[in-house]
Amino acid sequence: MVSSLSAFDNQKQKDKAIVAPSVLSADFGHLDSEIEMINNSEADWFHIDVMDGVFVPNISFGFSVIKHIKEKALKPLDVHLMIVDPDRYIEEFKNAGADILTVHYEASIHLHRTLQYIKSLGMKAGVSLNPHTPVSCLEEILPHTDLVLIMSVNPGFGGQEFIEESLEKINKLKKLIGNKRTLIEVDGGINTDNAKGLVKAGTDALVAGNAVFKSPDPSGTISKLKGPYSFPSR
Ligand code: DX5
Ligand code: ZN
Repeated sequence: MVSSLSAFDNQKQKDKAIVAPSVLSADFGHLDSEIEMINNSEADWFHIDVMDGVFVPNISFGFSVIKHIKEKALKPLDVHLMIVDPDRYIEEFKNAGADILTVHYEASIHLHRTLQYIKSLGMKAGVSLNPHTPVSCLEEILPHTDLVLIMSVNPGFGGQEFIEESLEKINKLKKLIGNKRTLIEVDGGINTDNAKGLVKAGTDALVAGNAVFKSPDPSGTISKLKGPYSFPSR
């Protein structure tokens, strides 16, 4: 049984962040126990990074691994596609178990159509921006976007250093979203030291790979990332 996506509707009133551990940094030799750790932790979603070796200079994993995670996961799958021409595979990601499907702005020619298609299959639709892409390019598409994923590293690898300019970008996006329901998720170089600043800037959902899986206490790190945070704007 998978828990609901209620975080989508309730999060902005709460003092806790959504936390999505990035499975890319997990120990794939012991994947089931890593999944179990997330199931038993305070984490909200499984963050699943799909890389095609073309859009980014790395290849991760595909449908069979995602299906396996889906069979064991008690929480929604937040699937981040770092692939060119994502429209080709949207239905297959739905069948593999994606609950939230995020495509890159830079990889999508007909983004409006892509988001409609994702939603028509019953998934939440996200758009991700590379560090160099301004948030202003989202102005027209925001009403059709459930989630914006701000990359705070150049996508392709876990364990990179957080790009500080991302904070200003999150601030700008928060203003652009205004009172719309779109969530802000941030991905790359996030840890228990910079999480507070990210939430203060407007982040709703924190993705963390190395900070969680390379920690001596992964579940405790997830709890720290959750908060509580108390900022007037949340
Ligand atoms: C990078 C991925 C991230 C990555 C995060 O391309 O999208 O989700 O795994 O890993 P950390 O938290 O280690 O930067
Ligand atoms: Zn990611």
